[in-house]
Amino acid sequence: KRPEDCAVVIFGASGDLTGRKLVPALYRLFASGATPEHFYICGAARSEMSREQFQDKMRQAVESRGLDMGAWQAFADRLHYQAVVYDQVESYQALATRLDELDARHGVGGNRILELAIPPTLYQTMAVTLARAGLSQEERGWRRLVVEKPFGRDLESSRELNRAIGQGFQEHQVFRIDHYLAKETVQNIMMFRFANAIFEPLWNRNFIDQVSIVTGETLGVEHRAGYYEQAGVLRDMFQNHMMQLLALVAAEPPSLFEADRVRDERTKLFRSLRPFPLEELYDYLVLAQYEAGEIDGKPVPAYRAEPGVDPSSLAPTFAAMKVYVDNWRWQGVPFYLTSGKRLTEKLTRITINFREVPHSLFRRVLGEDIQTNRLVLDIQPKEEITLYFQAKQPGAQVGLRTVRLHFSYQDQAGRQGMEAYEKALVDAMLGDQMLFWRQDGVELCWAFLDPVLEACEQCGDRADRLHRYRAGSWGPSDAAKLWPGHPYNNPLE
Ligand code: BG6
Repeated sequence: KRPEDCAVVIFGASGDLTGRKLVPALYRLFASGATPEHFYICGAARSEMSREQFQDKMRQAVESRGLDMGAWQAFADRLHYQAVVYDQVESYQALATRLDELDARHGVGGNRILELAIPPTLYQTMAVTLARAGLSQEERGWRRLVVEKPFGRDLESSRELNRAIGQGFQEHQVFRIDHYLAKETVQNIMMFRFANAIFEPLWNRNFIDQVSIVTGETLGVEHRAGYYEQAGVLRDMFQNHMMQLLALVAAEPPSLFEADRVRDERTKLFRSLRPFPLEELYDYLVLAQYEAGEIDGKPVPAYRAEPGVDPSSLAPTFAAMKVYVDNWRWQGVPFYLTSGKRLTEKLTRITINFREVPHSLFRRVLGEDIQTNRLVLDIQPKEEITLYFQAKQPGAQVGLRTVRLHFSYQDQAGRQGMEAYEKALVDAMLGDQMLFWRQDGVELCWAFLDPVLEACEQCGDRADRLHRYRAGSWGPSDAAKLWPGHPYNNPLE
């Protein structure tokens, strides 16, 4: 389905996100014919820039992604630029007039995506000013506001941000991006669970022993110290992506594959999260920060030695947490959520560990425990599903070995996936909010993590609370020792 004609207005058009993600994604959509028939992009930012300079900057950005430039000229004809003063209503009114002219020129009827690719500190001002300038009103065509995380830095500030957004926009106009939700294999979790009859009957406390969700990165903090020092891994990865992965694995089936029914189920799941017992918090949480080490054979500095980082910083770059979902399906099943920067490998992997067989008739002969069944959903960079089970060891001796059933997306003929930003942008154009956060979910996740963040911020630099790990390792070397029962050690094993 092709979206209705519309304009995409990108605020923060001279910034990093625009060049790195948004414009390359829009270009790919355009080149594959997935953008509306009539469509244009208007970049808006504080810097004075001519249209040609903006086009040139975007061409470089797209070229540097190694994309085929065959459709560039036609795309560039749809690129415009307008300088704005972010907190000045008149400046937005001038922008509105310009957009009306561009609408007429490109044959677009007034539908607009307003994408905020600006620093989060500006979100509130921007939302309020957009409303004051009348840019949120849906008199002629729809207006959709696309916002990137972070949605506040705690429950209170996320509510405040939402109140500011609410001055001009209603919930159906707000698209809060979580690019993990837009990853193809993340979406596949629901297909896997609910389009097959054989897995869902096992998907509960009666058959599942524990679930592990790991997101590892090799990258360090890069040039984002200013943001990361304030955020740390809990705000950067857990309040958003890790919570959504958990919700997709654990939520109940919605009655229909439809935005609000699916989001209702995710919200219900967030509502069932068991609050952390703060008096024994560190039985449930491991926090750590990376030391100097090696990534792909190259030395990399410690977090505290990264540019812009406080040399005595207490920001965690790794966290592992044990989470329980208090409902009928999941009572007593631990979910281990782990994520860190500067780990050995880039990967996102969900492992469903099934229970032991009820009675091991082979134990006496084999003298060992039988390996339990495991279902591994590899989200990225490998896109695979693997089921491990036991089979007879070939030969005269009685013996068992673990074998696997394996499915790989890459092997699918004609695979033409969409990158996360392409999917998110096209869904915003289509008005489908399924893969976006709704405010109730945002608030429930903050309410879940706020007490932990508060406790951690008061914990000081106690070695037993903020552990260290070598860059290039799988986290604090003894995470498993620190935390008996935790399956995470080397997630590749
Ligand atoms: C972002 C975080 O949301 O996700 C980054 O702010 C992180 O710190 C990134 O690196 C990871 O995304 P991906 O798609 O590379 O796994």
